[in-house]
Amino acid sequence: MPKPNPSLKGLTNQLKDKLIQQALERRLKRAGALPDQDNAAVSLAGVETPSVRAIANLPESSYRFEHHPAYQQIRIMQEGARQLGVPNPFFRVHDGIAANVTSIGGREYINYSSYNYLGMSGDPEVSAAAKAAIDRYGTSVSASRPVSGERALHREFERALAEVYEVDDCIALVSGHATNVTTLGYLFGPRDLIIHDALIHNSVLQGIQLSGAKRLPFPHNDLASLETILRDQRLQYERVLIVIEGIYSMDGDYPDLPAIVELKERYRCFLMVDEAHSFGIMGKRGLGIREHFGLPGTCVDIWMGTLSKALAGCGGYIAGSKALVEPLKYFAPGFLYSVGMPPPVAASALAALQKMIREPERVERLQTQGQRFLRLARSAGIDTGTSTGLAVIPAITGSSLKAARLSNALFEQGINVQPILYPAVPEKSARLRFFLSCQHTDEQIDHTVELLTREIARA
Ligand SMILES: Cc1ncc(COP(=O)(O)O)c(C=O)c1O
Repeated sequence: MPKPNPSLKGLTNQLKDKLIQQALERRLKRAGALPDQDNAAVSLAGVETPSVRAIANLPESSYRFEHHPAYQQIRIMQEGARQLGVPNPFFRVHDGIAANVTSIGGREYINYSSYNYLGMSGDPEVSAAAKAAIDRYGTSVSASRPVSGERALHREFERALAEVYEVDDCIALVSGHATNVTTLGYLFGPRDLIIHDALIHNSVLQGIQLSGAKRLPFPHNDLASLETILRDQRLQYERVLIVIEGIYSMDGDYPDLPAIVELKERYRCFLMVDEAHSFGIMGKRGLGIREHFGLPGTCVDIWMGTLSKALAGCGGYIAGSKALVEPLKYFAPGFLYSVGMPPPVAASALAALQKMIREPERVERLQTQGQRFLRLARSAGIDTGTSTGLAVIPAITGSSLKAARLSNALFEQGINVQPILYPAVPEKSARLRFFLSCQHTDEQIDHTVELLTREIARA
């Protein structure tokens, strides 16, 4: 980085800009690139460009990040939190494996802030698979999959997932978020309509934006409204896609999948289900929302999931027909122009998937512990919204400040649970969000609900 000119110290930014601009103009004039007139426009290859002076007068907000609205927003939030005496609950550093317990700053906490639902991250067998993959392939495949980044592990993992879903094929990408963005961005366009549940994840919204398709939300899990949209809009568009989640990540509830499948068939649409929080969580063996409802894999056109939750990795997948997966493999920019999944990640996700199938008791235990937490919380009068106790249980506080204070009060007493604040949810829905793990013990859950109840009464 160039060192700041010491002679500019103490000057206002505006004055500095003016001096720099004058120096630049002198240099351009010496080089013969600028006519010797103050207000003259520079002519480059016949194209008129704005005058150097007009550029010099541009407001700082157009070229300095200090004035960017995002930075301003953070400063306001930090200042507000400082004045209210609420410490920052974000970016806490965990010392080791984050499971039902975690260590932060050398102190042990009961942990509800990690989506390590099946305890696979940190499992010795899963870690050993990752280490073996590093020994064999290294830490990176060092290329995109089509151009020399392909390894046997990738296909093994994808085939295992396709088998679980009982569909033709699957494609795995390096990020769950990017999987939604690139899949939707690539497959749909301005002549299409994408209808989604109002609580759909940000990655879906970003994908729709990239696609240029018309976007229409329907109220959360309100299928009458979904049908009204379909009836009114279906014929206005070439292709129509409905996007829902298997389990909604803020609320822990799920959609009536059989009814939505019926609607998509009747109105001849595509259906996409994001299983980030339902794969490994729903169904007797953790095979997701379709197992829960006893539906075939082919009833949904696009199955999407992430590796970062039950599968102890990092990345996303799309499973479905060959006609869906093959074009994504050849053309979806987030796959084609991005590196292949690192060997240890593919290996650990594959090991976690195999272990989940071999040990369905993990899934059963996660479901039982979730029900225990939900039952106790409800009977203590805690507002758990529409949660079904499947891995995600909110405690709705009704204000961001209350949620942040409650999170800190519990943290001081050895419980790590993250507050979800506006704008991640509407202000009146601000909450603590508890992620359950199959490793949480009865004692940990009972103790947590007891403390939570006491702290809510105090808030
Ligand atoms: C519903 C949903 N979809 C997609 C994603 C993105 O997945 P990842 O965090 O693995 O990139 C998330 C992240 O939590 C999610 O909750």
